Amino acid sequence: MLDLSDAHRLARGKVRDVFARPGRPDQLLKTLRGTKRIAYARRRGVRAWIKRRAGLGPYRYLLKEYRCYLRVAHRAERLDRPIPIAEFGSVVRTDRGLAQVAVRVPDAQGALAPTLRDLMRAGRDDAVPLGPLNAFVRDLYDLNVVVPDLTAGNVVLDASVSGGRFLLVDGYGEKAFVPLRTWFPAINARALGRGFARIAAGSPLRWNGTARRFEAQ
Ligand SMILES: Nc1ncnc2c1ncn2[C@@H]1O[C@H](COP(=O)(O)OP(=O)(O)OP(=O)(O)O)[C@@H](O)[C@H]1O
Ligand SMILES: [Mg+2]
Repeated sequence: MLDLSDAHRLARGKVRDVFARPGRPDQLLKTLRGTKRIAYARRRGVRAWIKRRAGLGPYRYLLKEYRCYLRVAHRAERLDRPIPIAEFGSVVRTDRGLAQVAVRVPDAQGALAPTLRDLMRAGRDDAVPLGPLNAFVRDLYDLNVVVPDLTAGNVVLDASVSGGRFLLVDGYGEKAFVPLRTWFPAINARALGRGFARIAAGSPLRWNGTARRFEAQ
């Protein structure tokens, strides 16, 4: 079991902590924050009981991500497109519960990649590369990626490929019991449009919903 007490925490979301994987600088470990694990253990009632029987504990959300990842990858294969989701897969045991192993998306210097939010906050006109951003947008529509939590903090700029590319690190995977967005791409397209419009609001960019692309103001 990995002891993360000395590991370097690189980032923290509302749900997860992100650590450098000890001895594997190209990888990250994502653990559930303690508050989330405690909240899960305290849940009462029939729904909680049924979920407990499934035996996935607080890690059930991983299944939602993996299902989406696999579906998108399969579609990307058929359409010969890139997979717009950062690579992840295995899980390892740590003193903070199970950790999801992910490939660490790097910036140009090899440090942790900036999020789209970081780039937008930089305030410079050229901080967000529009070509790669709109290529990412097209992939999300064409592959019908379901992203209920489409925020600028869940998208990072990968500098390891020439010209750069944007990747989702979080926020994807159908939450609904009846997966309407997965089944009906038109419904998902409307949701993606709302998400991109939200991202553009208060940023240096403008969202053109008709052309489905970001534009300079
Ligand atoms: N594979 C990755 N490569 C580079 N950076 C990453 C990667 N995965 C996550 N990050 C960074 O860690 C931050 C938090 O990760 P993540 O979004 O998965 O956590 P979360 O708690 O689920 O987020 P939220 O607050 O949106 O619920 C991201 O905003 C991003 O900056
Ligand atoms: Mg996030």
